[in-house]
Amino acid sequence: MFDFLKRSSTLLLLSVAAQAIDQNCASFTFEANNTKLIASTFFEAGAHVNISTPFEVVDTDTLPAFCRVQLEITTNATANSTALAEVWLPGSTDWNGRFLTVGNGGFSGSVSVGDLAFMAVNQGFAGVSTNSGHSAPPNNGSWALGNDNAKIDFGWRAMHLSVLIGKEVVQKYYGRSHKKAYYIGCSEGGRQGLKEIQKFPDDFDGIVVGSPANWGSHLLSSLVRGSLNVLPTTSSRWIPENTWTNVIHPEALRQCDESKTESSAIPFYAASDQKRLLADKAKIQRRASQYPKLKLCTRSIPTTTRQTKHISLVAFTRDLKMAFPRDTTWDISRFDMDTILLADSVNPGQSNAISPDLRKFTDHKGKVLHYAGWAENLISAGNSLHYYETVNSFMRANTNLEMDDFYRLFMVPGMAHCSLGEGANAFGAVLQESMGMPPLAHDAKSDVLAALIQWVEDDVAPENITAVHYENNNATAGISFTRPICKYPASPRYISGDPNSAESFSCI
Ligand SMILES: *[C@@H]1O[C@H](CO)[C@@H](O)[C@H](O)[C@H]1NC(C)=O
Ligand SMILES: *[C@@H]1O[C@H](CO)[C@@H](O)[C@H](O)[C@H]1NC(C)=O
Ligand SMILES: *[C@@H]1O[C@H](CO)[C@@H](O)[C@H](O)[C@H]1NC(C)=O
Ligand SMILES: *[C@@H]1O[C@H](CO)[C@@H](O)[C@H](O)[C@H]1NC(C)=O
Ligand SMILES: *[C@@H]1O[C@H](CO)[C@@H](O)[C@H](O)[C@H]1NC(C)=O
Ligand SMILES: *[C@@H]1O[C@H](CO)[C@@H](O)[C@H](O)[C@H]1NC(C)=O
Ligand SMILES: *[C@@H]1O[C@H](CO)[C@@H](O)[C@H](O)[C@H]1NC(C)=O
Repeated sequence: MFDFLKRSSTLLLLSVAAQAIDQNCASFTFEANNTKLIASTFFEAGAHVNISTPFEVVDTDTLPAFCRVQLEITTNATANSTALAEVWLPGSTDWNGRFLTVGNGGFSGSVSVGDLAFMAVNQGFAGVSTNSGHSAPPNNGSWALGNDNAKIDFGWRAMHLSVLIGKEVVQKYYGRSHKKAYYIGCSEGGRQGLKEIQKFPDDFDGIVVGSPANWGSHLLSSLVRGSLNVLPTTSSRWIPENTWTNVIHPEALRQCDESKTESSAIPFYAASDQKRLLADKAKIQRRASQYPKLKLCTRSIPTTTRQTKHISLVAFTRDLKMAFPRDTTWDISRFDMDTILLADSVNPGQSNAISPDLRKFTDHKGKVLHYAGWAENLISAGNSLHYYETVNSFMRANTNLEMDDFYRLFMVPGMAHCSLGEGANAFGAVLQESMGMPPLAHDAKSDVLAALIQWVEDDVAPENITAVHYENNNATAGISFTRPICKYPASPRYISGDPNSAESFSCI
């Protein structure tokens, strides 16, 4: 899916410490009833690391020395279901003492080796990642059909077990346990992070979640609905890409400019449509089946309208329908509001992560740093606002906490799904550095993970992050501009000076 840039660098000299862990790595053993050690492989500093999964390719020679531990975890002995997990361990003198779990993307299906490389060992963390219980490309959900254990593994079980076992591996390898445990993930990875703190609130001290796919039953339905609105590509309803680019997009921006705020969403409908839309909205709300719309004040094209292949995402929805013994022939042309209600009631694999009750997480001072792009083209930015607001209402009603005490949301103007787009979109999150777009620095000012750590460990909470946009989204081409991303509900406002410099903006 995502090809990693090859990086050239000088080969680092093998340090004494690296040689010492070489032996630990080669002779590493790990025993647990539900876990089989597949391999432990040592990579010297600067060694060529070339690992491919259906999701990505890591092909680099810039990493510090590390030990790659590959495990198979039995997730349900009765069903003989398993998940793969990997723990990547920097040398003991390079280890920063922290445990970092990285999430997956799409329907997952492979260990996130790119983030283990660039988020974890490259920054001194002991990292863990899981394939979430099945091996498949991230955009193909067919493994879920009729396989309840695989769905539960995907929903939460593989992740939770990998975290528990990953912590034991770390303890065994270094002979001491981690100081703090963190999580970072976007999209499906955002969902996994929220599911963890809702269901296993003691697993982490702090999490970074990006654009979470945490309301799967409605998200998948919204994608199917979006597709059905325009398919087939031969119909007059189909909107070709050049219409998005040359007609709809400029018009949306014109309307957005008139509204004077980058973050407001102007529905792109003719006035005569308004009445019908309102009527539809009321009907839909009565059935509690709405999903926040994609924002149109953006510079990106909604994925669903562009791609028919995203229909593979409906495997879950289809599986739900197959739960009806007398209806095994369901396909998306028969999608209707009842499908959404059914998806809600079945909640496949218990994968929805929408509980607003974070009290057990905040009881031990757990922190959430959440970000999402306003130009999100797959999971509506409105979904992030919606979850934030549900947590806000619940926690206000049930605790004395303010959101700022434990949950901060950063909306990123012009960023698409997890990265890319025309805004300042590099700030140390997953699928950024691993795609060749590192943050300005790995510090609390310009890196979300460093900002979270400072919040958890030093009690200095992030107010804003300085993000960078590289020319053509390619760091080797140089910096195009920097911008603050602001703690919701503030947004960056130009004050004076060089418009390409974050210094010229305020969060208002
Ligand atoms: C592992 O399994 C054995 C045999 O079933 C049992 O006696 C032992 O308590 C288990 N150990 C753990 C750590 O669960
Ligand atoms: C990396 O591995 C792939 C096969 O997985 C191979 O095609 C490619 O040539 C390798 N790259 C290098 C630089 O060795
Ligand atoms: C384990 O799998 C079996 C067989 O599919 C199933 O009956 C059982 O409910 C599963 N247990 C759990 C805890 O998921
Ligand atoms: C479990 O599955 C593995 C392959 O994934 C197989 O080798 C093993 O025999 C199975 N065990 C049982 C008890 O079915
Ligand atoms: C999804 O995976 C299944 C099982 O491996 C395969 O049969 C099917 O062709 C795949 N679908 C797509 C769209 O790649
Ligand atoms: C990034 O830019 C460099 C130099 O301009 C170029 O060699 C490289 O191919 C570009 N990478 C991508 C992914 O476009
Ligand atoms: C970002 O936060 C820092 C620390 O609170 C503050 O000094 C700075 O003015 C903020 N920057 C913007 C653009 O609001």
